[in-house]
Amino acid sequence: MEKQSLHALPAGASDSLGQRSKHAVWHPCTRLRPDDTGMPLAIVRGEGPWLHDADGHRYFDATSSWWVNLFGHANPKINAALADQLQTLEHVMLAGCTHAPAVELAERLTALTGGALGHAFYASDGASAVEIALKMSFHYWRNTGLPAKREFVCLANGYHGETVGALGVTDLDVFRDAYDPLIRRAHVVMSPDARQAADGETAADVATRALAALETLLRERAGQIAAMIVEPLVQCAAGMAMYDPSYLEGARALCDRYRVHLIADEIAVGCGRTGTFFAWEQCRDADQPLPAHAWPDFLCLSKGISGGYLPLSLVLSRPEIQRAFIADELARSFLHSHSYTGNPLACRAAVATLDLFVQEDVIAQNRARAQWLADAMEPFASDARLHRMRQRGLIWAVDVRDELAGEGFAGRFHLAARARELLVRPIGNTLYVMPPYVFDAEQARWLATQLQATLDDVLGNAEAAKEVRHAA
Ligand SMILES: Cc1ncc(COP(=O)(O)O)c(C=O)c1O
Repeated sequence: MEKQSLHALPAGASDSLGQRSKHAVWHPCTRLRPDDTGMPLAIVRGEGPWLHDADGHRYFDATSSWWVNLFGHANPKINAALADQLQTLEHVMLAGCTHAPAVELAERLTALTGGALGHAFYASDGASAVEIALKMSFHYWRNTGLPAKREFVCLANGYHGETVGALGVTDLDVFRDAYDPLIRRAHVVMSPDARQAADGETAADVATRALAALETLLRERAGQIAAMIVEPLVQCAAGMAMYDPSYLEGARALCDRYRVHLIADEIAVGCGRTGTFFAWEQCRDADQPLPAHAWPDFLCLSKGISGGYLPLSLVLSRPEIQRAFIADELARSFLHSHSYTGNPLACRAAVATLDLFVQEDVIAQNRARAQWLADAMEPFASDARLHRMRQRGLIWAVDVRDELAGEGFAGRFHLAARARELLVRPIGNTLYVMPPYVFDAEQARWLATQLQATLDDVLGNAEAAKEVRHAA
């Protein structure tokens, strides 16, 4: 029998990269349809906000490659830091060993919370950070004599990842339903999504209603509830559902009153996306740093923390959480681990990312970028095909009216946008952009023009749409 060779190219190796990928790779979040003729876009190079394909076309990465990229592709400063790290230490296990990038990153993140949160517990993907926070919360209560607290609360339409534990606190049917028999479902409470405002109601009114619903649940079941988990300010996977910051302070107060942990999942909204380094910083309308008690009990970070370079996630927690695990008994220890926990390359990319925030005064620069984005997108506010335009920092979104979007709007828009040098993936009928922090006012205007043209390609122009709506 002929031996399989490690060097042999598979059948079809002369096909395009896209075709070979369809044979060799099971792509994430992608339907396999019997009649599918679609092909993954073969990207060969990235530079700044641009991605270049194998055929020489370029695409503006308007969603930061699934919300991870902060400072553009092939950023020279992050590249240099990684090249340096490669010469010294690529990996060592973090159990019983440590290394400078893991320590420096943890220290600097703690400093960014004014010392309120710390003891960075590292993992690789966002979902693993969520699992860690859920397990730590439950284990904390068990260690402190309250083992009955083993339930969780999440917001309607919340998304926290797709491992089995994370799906328990995720309320998006499309990801969860097939696995329902495997999942321990959390309590789902009303989301403060401002799009639910009735006539005359403000976003703050919706937040107040949502807090009342949360209190009803906590009053009844706090004795069994370990933690509630929220995506601060923007529920991204729900379709960039934005809400009033007062919800966060209100949820903090209720969790304190009913002795329930609060987990802030900043995997998507952290690292400057919403205008502050941590979205949670906006829970109070004040310029002062947040006092320690106003922070959540746990904060999960991933995606942007490594600049979009390498898989890295982490959980920060309050000092008293870790104290509850200091004990001689094995059963009180948090024995969770992943092989690549605290990988030095990923942590070094993250330290270089934090350096860029300081060197380039990114939070202040992003205020200007958010304004350029707002100015460029302004014409969409009066576009008859759209409604509920919204923005928080560098996340901008608008909903296409249901009666106009039609079947498979997101897929059609994605393909049409590619022909206009844009890489975007609408969520349902929500069109959004979340670009890397490297665009200027002119690029913001270009982005708006390309989106407008793509909308015309997909829906017909705005005047025609007005007539359709009047006729309906
Ligand atoms: C808020 C939030 N939490 C968790 C996750 C899961 O992260 P990952 O895909 O890295 O597992 C995501 C991913 O989009 C997210 O947006």
